[in-house]
Amino acid sequence: MGNSLNGRTILVTGAANRIGKAIAIAAANEGATIALHYNHSAEQAIITAKEIEQLGSQVACFQANIASLEDVQKMHKAIEEQLGSVFGVINNAGYGQMKSFFDYEPNEWKQEIDVCLNGVLNLAYTFVPSMKEQQEGKFITIVGDSARTGDRKLIVSAAARNGVISFMKSLAQEVGRQHIQCNTVSLGLIDQDDLQIGEDMYRKIVKGYPLQRLGKPGDITGMMQFLLSEQSDWITGQVFSINGGHSMLG
Ligand SMILES: NC(=O)c1ccc[n+]([C@@H]2O[C@H](COP(=O)([O-])OP(=O)(O)OC[C@H]3O[C@@H](n4cnc5c(N)ncnc54)[C@H](OP(=O)(O)O)[C@@H]3O)[C@@H](O)[C@H]2O)c1
Repeated sequence: MGNSLNGRTILVTGAANRIGKAIAIAAANEGATIALHYNHSAEQAIITAKEIEQLGSQVACFQANIASLEDVQKMHKAIEEQLGSVFGVINNAGYGQMKSFFDYEPNEWKQEIDVCLNGVLNLAYTFVPSMKEQQEGKFITIVGDSARTGDRKLIVSAAARNGVISFMKSLAQEVGRQHIQCNTVSLGLIDQDDLQIGEDMYRKIVKGYPLQRLGKPGDITGMMQFLLSEQSDWITGQVFSINGGHSMLG
């Protein structure tokens, strides 16, 4: 257990399970107080919070639909009341469907854009002003590599997240003078033991990864700790790939 985040409150969205849970636990292991956000996974959030408490870290759970600015603002108020000001936000929550664009109903693509793009805007609009007052903060967003490479089966979430990358760069320019760093982490395929593909397809996909394996949630946590720590204080507006070399974007 380290102490690089002692005294820091970190909000991790979508942290009840999967990648968000791994990030929240890793931040707690560095001494952070965790604001554990969930939307539907209330039971799982409580289980994850208990695991974090067992590490000796403070944690509280907060429900919000990040597509709703009102929800996000209520969550912000509740976090400040219970845990104090938020030093870092990790936008891990996301929603995307895998299908061709022409199989969408229009209200379905709106929903993806509302979570993946407007969700990040809602969180920035709500949490970054307090960081500006504190004259410090870390605002970090996860996207998939499809945001930069395109992917015909992730066509809507990829488009929304390309917008997120642009937003994060502009935000970094806007709030740099208040010592707030805004960075994006772009993921390749993360194997969480629930990929619904056969063995042949799995092997075919892995061949596209120079490091010859898919990612694990533990491959992401080190970068998150770094981006939350003071070691990254002169890094902002960047996109970092964690993808086993699947795409090598300049
Ligand atoms: N897994 C991969 O291979 C991969 C690859 C590239 C990028 N990513 C990105 O990495 C992040 C984590 O991926 P993951 O596979 O661990 O999880 P995930 O299943 O994609 O979803 C993460 C969480 O997002 C939350 N969420 C969805 N809609 C929401 C809404 N309207 N408001 C608030 N929260 C909402 C859900 O919370 P509740 O469960 O509480 O409802 C869910 O647990 C996602 O942003 C994902 O797109 C993943």
